[in-house]
This record gives sequence, structure tokens and C-alpha cells, in this order.
Amino acid sequence: MTTRLPAAGPLSFGTATASYQVEGAVAEDGRGRSIWDTFTERPGAIKDASDGAVACDSYHRFDEDADLLAGLGVDWYRFSIAWPRVLPEGRGRVETRGLDYYDRLVDSLLARGVGPSPTLYHWDLPQALEDAGGWLVRDTAEAFADYAMVVHERLGDRVGLWTTLNEPWCAAYLGYAGGVHAPGRREGGDAHRAAHHLNLAHGLAAARLHEANAGDVGIALNLAPIWPERPEAERVADGVDAVRNRVWLGPLVDGAYDEGLLSVAPVLRDPELVRDGDLELVRGSADWMGINYYTPVRPDLPEGLPAGEAHPEAGAYPGVDPVAFVVREPRTDIGWEVEPRGLEELLVETHRRSGLPLIVTENGAAYADEVVDGPDGRTIDDQDRIDYLRGHIDATERARAAGADVRAYFVWTLLDNFEWAEGYTKTFGIVHVDPDDQTRTPKASYAWFADRVR
Ligand code: FCB
Repeated sequence: MTTRLPAAGPLSFGTATASYQVEGAVAEDGRGRSIWDTFTERPGAIKDASDGAVACDSYHRFDEDADLLAGLGVDWYRFSIAWPRVLPEGRGRVETRGLDYYDRLVDSLLARGVGPSPTLYHWDLPQALEDAGGWLVRDTAEAFADYAMVVHERLGDRVGLWTTLNEPWCAAYLGYAGGVHAPGRREGGDAHRAAHHLNLAHGLAAARLHEANAGDVGIALNLAPIWPERPEAERVADGVDAVRNRVWLGPLVDGAYDEGLLSVAPVLRDPELVRDGDLELVRGSADWMGINYYTPVRPDLPEGLPAGEAHPEAGAYPGVDPVAFVVREPRTDIGWEVEPRGLEELLVETHRRSGLPLIVTENGAAYADEVVDGPDGRTIDDQDRIDYLRGHIDATERARAAGADVRAYFVWTLLDNFEWAEGYTKTFGIVHVDPDDQTRTPKASYAWFADRVR
């Protein structure tokens, strides 16, 4: 029996996490180094100078996490697999102890009636592969497909709902253009090479997984509704849409990069980069699509913004110049605008464009929680997070009513965890994690979500 894409019917629910954000145990059981181990050592890269070395210690506490999921009554746990745990050098030698961990995790979930849904790449590229060129080179895509099969061989008897990549936009453009995520490179237009190799990695892995009858293979994209702030910004907004959305949807749906995209990303015309058959391989390779949504994107011209409002994602749209981003109120603690209509529009539009079943693979909010230690123990009354989740689950239901085939909704995230460049300063969890001893305390949003799920 393997877990498969939920059938059309009532929305099913889950929560999501990612390996480097929760596992800790970075030097245990032969795990190799990843680009996030390296990047977090760079002075200034992480807001609180922290790293994922301990994180939520889920490597040792996965049973406790699984109990929390069972307590929620969710159908799914979306977690990611750390490539360097399985292949410490990225290719070649397999580290069985790394696979053993995911084996235990999968069994622990299944024993509690929670469906495991692994993501094969949530940004922790083996450092050895980065040293050989990272996502800027084609070999990395080939190595990814081999790695996918190693994982499938071990888990495929129980797992049938696979995600290849998480948010390749971030991996390519925050990692190789903006420089704010690992590996922290600023390669400008060459970052489009990384995007192509990520598309190829997905296509190669999906083909191999399908050959092995692996079940339902998808990709989790952080597509965004692009809402130009004023008519003068429509041209740059089209460029932003190309680099954020069409660079992924084009290959998946049409087997092509469109002209508008090629004009901002001319390197994608290079036949040495985009080889015959690459885009054909990607077309139709996803059985379903994951949508990670937090906030809409409102492109503007720089002079339209108040002085000093530099957006953290500036620089992450190479070739789209000059562009600025407006963020309206209300905002969460990470500065992202709250706008559930963005999710509704995105789901309807993406289903129309792709015809694929969808899962909201991530949605959630960072708020500065007030932790109260009272006589009856610790409480966190996060009404703001409840409002956010309610608004977005309602938006998902509206999109379904409007025809979008959305099968499931996963909250980001189960646990307060290592939030990349923000370190531990931003908390998205429905469960509080004590930074000193990793004690887990369900927040009010946990109880609310458990109610909503039932
Ligand atoms: C997404 C990431 C996820 C988490 C949320 C807040 O971009 O996929 O790991 O950091 O944002």
C-alpha cells in the first residue's frame, strides 16, 4: 500500500516542514555537508547568526512530531529529505543510516494514520555538488535524478505522493542572483541557468520515478499573483511574471520558454544550455502541482516607492530592470502582506492554465507570539495566525467552488523552526518550540486547526 494523491472530494489537510529547518543532527550518521551548513557560517548571512545544527532536533524527536500530527488529525505530513544524508557527496556512495532515518519517520507516520509526503529537494544541496558548479551546471540535474531513485528504492513501497523540488524560484534566484539564500552567489542573468537545470532536474527525476511506477509526482512552486501597482509598471510586471511564474509553468504545460521570458533571460536561448528534448521532457511530467502561497507580488517602478523601501527580493529578478515591490498593509511579522484573495486567484488561474490537480503545499504566517508561562503551563494565544489560516482556507474553498481542483491544504508549518536568512527570529509554527530545550507546546492555532480538520 502506498499513499497517493488524495481523490477529488472534501479538502484534505496536512502540515509541512523541511529537513534543514527542523532536523538538526547535521553531523550525525554520516550526513555530508550542505550549502546551508556553509552559508550559515558566512558573517551577516543569517539575521541572528544562527544555523540549523540543532533546529527542532526532529532527527531524534520525530516520534513526538508524529504524535503532534496524530493529535491534529491531519491526513498528511509533508517533510523533505536531506540529499546529503542519503548521498554525502551528492552522488555515488549511499549512506544507509541516512535512509534509515526517513524509513523510521515514514513508519512512525503510517503507524499513526498520517500519510507521508516527501519532498526530495528543499534547498539543502550537497556542498560537494555546489563545489562542482551547483545548479549552474547540468550534472547537478543528472545527479538529482539518481538521488531520487535511491530514495524511491527505499521508501517507494509505502510512499506514492512525491514532490521533486520545493520552490525552485528561490533555489535559482535567491541563491544565485539575489545572494540572500545559499549558496549566496550573485551571478545576475546566469541564475537563469540554474532555473533551467532545476526544470531539467524535475523532468529527469519525474521520468525515472514514473518508469518505476512511483505514483503521483508533483513539484511545489511558489507561483505568485502579480499585481502591477500602476499602469506604468505593467512592462516590468510582465518580466516579474516571466521569472517568477512562466519560467516553470512554460516547460511544464507547453514544453517551452515564451518570447517574453526569453527577452529578459536571453541565456535561455543558448542551445548548449537548453538542449533538444529538455523542455519536451518537462512537459506533462507533473501529475499534480503544489502551490506555496504567502503573499501577492506588486511590482512598481522604483520612483513609485517611498525612499528607503528596498525590498529583500530586489536583485532576484535578473533582466527585469528597474523594478521595485510595494507591500501593502496588513503585514505579518516577516513583512509580507496578508491577502487571501491572492491565493484564490492563483489557484483558479493555475488550474485553468495547467489542468492539473493542485495541493496548497504551503501557507501560513509568521507572528511574534507572546509566550505566557502560567500556573497551568505554557500558553500561546496566536489569534492573528488563526485569522490568517482561516482566511486562506476559506479562500481555498472559494477557489474550489470556482472550479479549481484543489485536493489538499498543508499549513506551513508544524513547528517553529529555522527560517533561513531570518534564523529563529520569525516563527510560523502552530506548535511553539523552546529554543533552549526543544520542548514543543501547541499554540491556540494548533487547537483551531485540529477543529477545522475534523
Ligand atoms: C517558503 C519556504 C519554507 C518556509 C516558508 C516561510 O518559501 O519553502 O521553507 O521558509 O517560505
